[in-house]
Amino acid sequence: MQIIDGKATAKAIKEEIRAEVDSLVSAGKRNPHLAAILIGHDGGSETYVAYKIKDCAEVGFKSTLVRFEDDVKEVVLLEKIKELNNDEGLDGFIVQLPIPDQINEQRIIEAIDPRKDVDGFHPVNVGRTVIGLPSFTSATPYGIVELLKRYNIETSGKHCVVVGRSNIVGRPMSILMSQKSMNATVTVAHSRTKNLEELCASADILIAALGAPGFIKAHMVKEGAVVIDVGTTRVPSTETKSGFRLKGDVVYDEVAPKCSYITPVPGGVGPMTRVSLLSNTLKAAKGNILS
Ligand code: GUN
Repeated sequence: MQIIDGKATAKAIKEEIRAEVDSLVSAGKRNPHLAAILIGHDGGSETYVAYKIKDCAEVGFKSTLVRFEDDVKEVVLLEKIKELNNDEGLDGFIVQLPIPDQINEQRIIEAIDPRKDVDGFHPVNVGRTVIGLPSFTSATPYGIVELLKRYNIETSGKHCVVVGRSNIVGRPMSILMSQKSMNATVTVAHSRTKNLEELCASADILIAALGAPGFIKAHMVKEGAVVIDVGTTRVPSTETKSGFRLKGDVVYDEVAPKCSYITPVPGGVGPMTRVSLLSNTLKAAKGNILS
């Protein structure tokens, strides 16, 4: 069994990005610039955005944090998005999700200029990803593909079961795995799937992205399978300073001995998601991939 070290892989990619930033700047270009819109004070979102800002500094990107309170009106947010779309000194931006109920999430996503949509959530980017055109691809699936490639994990002809069909992870993940670069045979499982346990146990590559801590147990995993755990549920903990720890969708201790490869939580997919946002922002800074 080999542990897939997302933390080390992300660190290596960050060094590659840093080197590219240095050469852009040496060539007279400005530093890539990412902005994040954060609404309200949700603990998880605060943490994730703080990481994004820190990551930017580490690779030499400029970053801007735009904050709004929970009661912000949709028109105000749309106005800010328009301003960021037109800001020539900004390469890409994200609106941290979830957003409050009074705001229509899809309307916000679609207001972002697809050329600056480094989250890859705009339908133009989703559609372009589906048909294999250059696009910004959602960070978590993008990061997982990068991990599989960098660990030389064979995906061609393999049966990949993706558990979860969210717009951000499960759905795009299933699309990427079925494309010619990966060549897997993909099944998307979800809450209405029958015989889920047997289906998971038939997977050569099992990608758990359902957000249910400890859902995948040893009897649901085939001997020699590759297991990718996307789960990052914050659960209370007395052992950490923050009072939380991250728990994956896979019961690691009982599943790991059966696997050929497995990602831990934390230190697996999470750091790759973070670095993929940087990769997308670098792409945005280097030129319009949507032209
Ligand atoms: N909330 C959870 N994951 C994400 C993400 O990748 N991007 C944004 N904008 N919000 C999120």
